[in-house]
Amino acid sequence: MQTDQLDGLERALTATPDNQPLAELLLAACADANDHARARRVQDALSAQQVLALPPELRLRLSRLAGLHGDSERALQLAGDDTPDAALARARALLALNRRDDAEREYRSAVERNPTLEDERLGAELRGKVVSLDAARRFGAERTIAADEVDPDDVVRRLAPETERVTFADVGGLAEVKQQIRRRIITPFQKPSLFERFRRKAGGGILLYGPPGCGKTLLARATAGECGAKFFNVAINDVLDMWMGESERKLHALFEHARRSAPAVMFFDEIEALGAKREYSREATTAKLVSQFLAELDGFAQNNQGVLILGATNVPWAIDPAFRRPGRFDRVLFVPPPDQAAREEILTALLRDRPLAGAIDIAGLARTTSAFSGADLRHLVDSAADEAIDASLAAGDEVPLATEHLKAALAQIRPTTLEWLTTARNYARYANESGQYDEVLEFIRKHGKN
Ligand SMILES: Nc1ncnc2c1ncn2[C@@H]1O[C@H](COP(=O)(O)OP(=O)(O)O)[C@@H](O)[C@H]1O
Ligand SMILES: [Mg+2]
Repeated sequence: MQTDQLDGLERALTATPDNQPLAELLLAACADANDHARARRVQDALSAQQVLALPPELRLRLSRLAGLHGDSERALQLAGDDTPDAALARARALLALNRRDDAEREYRSAVERNPTLEDERLGAELRGKVVSLDAARRFGAERTIAADEVDPDDVVRRLAPETERVTFADVGGLAEVKQQIRRRIITPFQKPSLFERFRRKAGGGILLYGPPGCGKTLLARATAGECGAKFFNVAINDVLDMWMGESERKLHALFEHARRSAPAVMFFDEIEALGAKREYSREATTAKLVSQFLAELDGFAQNNQGVLILGATNVPWAIDPAFRRPGRFDRVLFVPPPDQAAREEILTALLRDRPLAGAIDIAGLARTTSAFSGADLRHLVDSAADEAIDASLAAGDEVPLATEHLKAALAQIRPTTLEWLTTARNYARYANESGQYDEVLEFIRKHGKN
């Protein structure tokens, strides 16, 4: 629209100031023409009610126009609605007015309600605010404590930092395995006198085995979260050392550390690496490391009281049978793929706290995902969430996760436990010494994999 046309409209409005449609037309034309001076003049001539009665989209456009021209106060006033877009406009205006805390609150409220409004640059600008002294001090204190705890010779890592405590409630299904862990690891720490009275010594280890992605590592982290004891997550790759005798020395140092910190749980994940990492050492040294490990387990000359051992592996057949003697890993537990009820539990937990479109058919999904591991289910839900994010970006507004997204993802994802079960069945058939894989056979019988 030309300037003289705008002039004409403005004169018409002055003659009939109550003509709301005309006011809207003129103001929209001002926004198109990037003419803030005129827009401001027109608004000032309107009554407060008239300004309030302007359609929200127009108010937002005028707010943006005011902001562009450095009139942040007006930009703030115009963005007065309770919509996410208005909150975003207010955030911009407040930032320009240097009211950073208010800006941040508005920005967060906008993005919470419509995540497609997220604006990396505005967010970064808001985050760049001066950190309060109190927070800075806290941060510094944490760092000092952590630095004190670090021992350069230490191959021990504390598992489950307080910030994300995992408990058994986070592990779907596996009631039997949980009960065993409770009885053998958690209760002995919580009720030592009870065990004393029954002359039941807490000790020995639990070895978890099963297909990958079914919750062995998760269970170990949950055990750490459930029991009050110190929990040491031992990374076997950190123990292995190419120098003669170094691996044994490190392993011993580790056990000593745990004994000094008793009550403690030591968790050896992917324990097969202890004997299988041939590239680091010749076979003779591997054998030495294994016998060192067994000696530490037996607690020869040392006191293992108050130190419990948890191990996990995907390849139980690669593990030295000597590990399973009494007093070592004398409980070997199968961590099976989740059954239907467990899949329902896992899916429910995975979908919790995500924006959902009405009721999701979780029971139906659980039925059609047999042989899916927990990790497969997580992959499924994450893929569906990706679809919903893509759809949200395309629509410019949040599109909640719906059953269709999950079905579409399901068509793309194959279960990963079948291959493991086939291998395990062969070992169970041809090398089932002392019935160590009976649980696997039982599972396969029950769930019809043959
Ligand atoms: N039973 C389960 N309940 C809840 N989540 C599970 C379960 N099993 C697997 N998951 C999911 O899969 C991921 C991988 O599982 P993980 O414990 O690392 O498997 P594993 O150690 O048996 O290979 C977990 O972090 C979790 O997100
Ligand atoms: Mg694992």
